[in-house]
Amino acid sequence: MDPYILKKDFPILDDKTLIYLDTAASSLKPKQVINKLEEYYEKYSTNVHRGVYNLSYVATEMYEQSRRKACEFINADFDEIVFTRGASSALNIVASSYGLNNLTSDDEIIVSELEHHSQVLPWQNVSNITKAKLVYVPLNKEGRITIENFKKVLNNKTKVVALNYVSNVMGYVTPIKEIIKLSHNVGAIVCVDAAQAAPHKKIDVKDIDCDFLAFSGHKMLGPTGIGVLFGKKELLKEMPPIEFGGDMNDNVNLYDATWKDSPYKFEAGTPPIAGAIGLGAAMDYINDIGIENIAIHEKKLKDYTVSKLLEIEDVVIYNKDAETGIISFNINSVHPHDAVTFFDGDNICMRAGHHCAQLIIKWLKVVATLRVSFYLYNTIEDCDRFIESVKNARDFFKSAGF
Ligand SMILES: Cc1ncc(COP(=O)(O)O)c(C=O)c1O
Repeated sequence: MDPYILKKDFPILDDKTLIYLDTAASSLKPKQVINKLEEYYEKYSTNVHRGVYNLSYVATEMYEQSRRKACEFINADFDEIVFTRGASSALNIVASSYGLNNLTSDDEIIVSELEHHSQVLPWQNVSNITKAKLVYVPLNKEGRITIENFKKVLNNKTKVVALNYVSNVMGYVTPIKEIIKLSHNVGAIVCVDAAQAAPHKKIDVKDIDCDFLAFSGHKMLGPTGIGVLFGKKELLKEMPPIEFGGDMNDNVNLYDATWKDSPYKFEAGTPPIAGAIGLGAAMDYINDIGIENIAIHEKKLKDYTVSKLLEIEDVVIYNKDAETGIISFNINSVHPHDAVTFFDGDNICMRAGHHCAQLIIKWLKVVATLRVSFYLYNTIEDCDRFIESVKNARDFFKSAGF
């Protein structure tokens, strides 16, 4: 893959001075996705599953075609893919529907300090309501979830394991397949937060054998407002809906009603139609390039940038051995928000803060970190300009007496 050619697909990057290093928050969108959204809004912007006329059939077919693309993308079956508003709402469905209805005070839920708030907070809520105990996997010295440490907290009381596949702060890949195997051995189900994995890594839900898996469209070239929840069909079948409204029901009586089968019972109301269709186009785009090629490219950029950052005095990197394209770091004595404002002056977009993952920031014993995250449209030149900006920021704040 050639990032210089790919860059041309991204209208925002027509501004040649712009360096975008914040894909972990949200990726840029290629014209292929933007055009698909335009096609929907201009040519068949009708509702799905309702209209008895051709345009609505077209919209329905495009919406369901995207579901089939999502199936192929992660090797799931059709009735195992629920379209949601994003990874957060997908994880909330699992916690509120499965968690609240299956856990009791005798049970334990395993999470980690590496989790995004979207994974840890829904399970905190389940724990508060059901009194199931929330148990944290101790992280190793590097801040990773290891099998050795996971085994220390797994036991016969564990009913749910809710962990990330790739950390949005540290970029570490969790050994999820082995964790799932161990969890199943004690009868626990595993809910995987794949928001940072799906855009960068081949996922095969049958191979890893996860019970639930969630990701967002907007981090993988797709539109905002669309996400995917994968759930094993036998689990989704038993789970009650948590939102009620149009299109999720079969028969409605005065005092009761029956629900459609999954996935529709979890898609109450008008679904994110344009979002789903746009996500289908994003998946096509990624498939055309090959997700493995994207991963190799990002890792190359990350290794190069880490090696250059290590040469800069006063730079502290928290995850230099991460397997993916995320770098979390700070410049000694410089508040990350000051640094990121300096980078913005060089037209470099990147993130500073706790990245919606306060637990790992507390674990690192810092107030916040700077975070760079790469994607297929980044180049070595982007890295060089960023490194230059880091050096200038360090010199600027040092000369200002920080
Ligand atoms: C690891 C991880 N999980 C979940 C989410 C939540 O995704 P969304 O905000 O799209 O619902 C994010 C977003 O940053 C994330 O990085």
